[in-house]
Parts: sequence; structure tokens; C-alpha cells
Amino acid sequence: MPSPLRTWASVLVLLAAAGCSRRQPESTARPSDVLPPVGPSELRAPEAFGVITDRADRSRALFLEASRVLLHPRCANCHPSGDTPLQGTEWQAHYPPVLRGPEDRGVVGLECTSCHQDRNLELARVPGAPNWHLAPLEMAWVGRTPRQVCEQLKDRKRNGGKTLAQIVEHNAHDELVGWGWAPGSGREPAPGTQERFGAIVAAWVETGAECPPEEAKP
Ligand code: HEC
Ligand code: HEC
Repeated sequence: MPSPLRTWASVLVLLAAAGCSRRQPESTARPSDVLPPVGPSELRAPEAFGVITDRADRSRALFLEASRVLLHPRCANCHPSGDTPLQGTEWQAHYPPVLRGPEDRGVVGLECTSCHQDRNLELARVPGAPNWHLAPLEMAWVGRTPRQVCEQLKDRKRNGGKTLAQIVEHNAHDELVGWGWAPGSGREPAPGTQERFGAIVAAWVETGAECPPEEAKP
């Protein structure tokens, strides 16, 4: 059982910690303070990050920009932390109810591709792209911070065994990724373009693939 003294000591530690995280933005400028403003449907060009002179800080800021795509519902709906895909813009469960199944492709009789074709079916509102299926659980992003997504993207045990060069390539050219900018049926696309997103991820890798601090948001 914690003694009252111990309890008070931890309260003081917590207060001190809260004070630090509040003070930090005054001493270290946040990327959003120095970068040009950006609309919610746009991505900054990699060159805009040149104003951040420290290479590691620039890398962290580039990842935060990339996380605006990675954590956008068009991507994260297919990278859920549970056994069903999500849909819409507010993490609604997939309707009709479907399950991930043993290989992330649905269950026998109700595979993803029984409904999802290799292209969007506009009238039926069914999105589609070649080989439509869920990202495996170790690649789940929903509910994670940009830092957590960054660390798992770099971890070959959790990224499908990819090198950083392959991660760049996947983001720049994969067809399921590309669907995020052509989602059909009035769905909001991911910000920017796949080309610019690929360039942001490449610039993040070139600057050392640093991860932003846990509390950092884009
Ligand atoms: C239809 C479902 C689907 C959509 C939509 C989707 N992904 Fe994925 N994603 C997958 C699958 C499946 C894999 C695993 C494939 C592999 O390893 O080759 C994956 C893997 C990845 C990976 C590599 C491994 C890792 O560490 O997670 C990245 C990066 C990625 N996706 C980015 C994106 C981005 C960015 C978007 C949105 C613009 C997106 N994905 C949208 C299904 C999807
Ligand atoms: C019975 C048909 C059916 C099956 C099976 C099915 N889906 Fe869907 N899915 C739909 C329909 C219809 C929508 C469109 C919902 C809407 O936007 O109104 C949809 C939407 C989605 C979306 C939302 C896209 C977005 O960002 O809005 C994702 C992700 C998705 N499905 C993934 C999957 C995966 C992965 C599987 C297999 C595990 C699967 N679906 C199985 C019919 C199905």
C-alpha cells in the first residue's frame, strides 16, 4: 500500500513533469511555427523543411508531415487495431460486419474480394483496388501516436520485413496506398498527392529516419 508521503512525492513529480512539457514549446520552436501554413487537404513540399537547419529535427518534422497521410482514415481504416476494417471519417466499424480472418482477407464465404473489386464501384459505393485486404495486426495504426507509427514502420519485425528503401517504394508506388488519393464515391482523399507523399517519406529517410517525440502532433 503506498504511504501518504510516497503518494505526495509522486504528485510532485507529476506536477514537475507537466510543467516541463508546458514550458518546452517556448524554448524549442515547434515545426508548425516555422513551416509555411498548409491546408488540411494539402501536403507541404519536402523543400519547405529546409528552414529547419538541424538534420534530426528536420527528419522528425518530415515524419509528422507524413503522419498526416498515414493516420488519415483513408489509410488507417485498412490498418485497424482490431479484427474488422473501419470506414468513414470517424473510425466507424465496417458495415456490413466482416472479419479479418486468418490471412487478413476475410473468412471463407465472405472474403474481402467477394465485394471489393480491383477498382471502385461508384454506384454501389464499394471501394476497390487490386488485391484488397487488411494490413496485418502488427501494422495497425489506429489509436497510435505518430511516434509509435514511426517506430513500427522502421521495425522489420513489424513492417513486413521491409528495408527503409522498400518502405519508400511501397508508399510511393503501392496500389492500395494509391487508392487513398482516388477513393471514389465522394470520400475525402488523403492530403496532397501520392507523388508528394512519396517524396516526403524519401526525405525523411535521407535525413536519418528520426522519430518525433511521443507528444508531438502534426
Ligand atoms: C485496402 C486496404 C489498405 C489501404 C486502403 C491502405 N493499406 Fe497500407 N497496407 C495494406 C496491406 C494489406 C499491407 C501489407 C502489405 C505488404 O506488406 O506488402 C499494407 C502495408 C503498408 C505499409 C508497409 C508496412 C508497414 O509498416 O505498415 C505502408 C507503409 C502502408 N501500408 C501505407 C499505407 C498508406 C500511406 C495508405 C493510405 C494512403 C495505405 N497504406 C492504405 C492495406 C491497405
Ligand atoms: C459484403 C460485402 C463486403 C465485404 C465482404 C467486405 N467489404 Fe469492405 N466495404 C463494403 C462496402 C459496401 C463499403 C462501403 C461502405 C460505405 O462507404 O458506405 C466498404 C468499405 C470498406 C472500407 C472503407 C474505406 C474507407 O476509407 O471509407 C474498408 C477499409 C474496407 N471496406 C475493407 C474491407 C476489408 C479489408 C474486407 C475483408 C476483411 C472487406 N472490406 C470486406 C463491402 C464489403
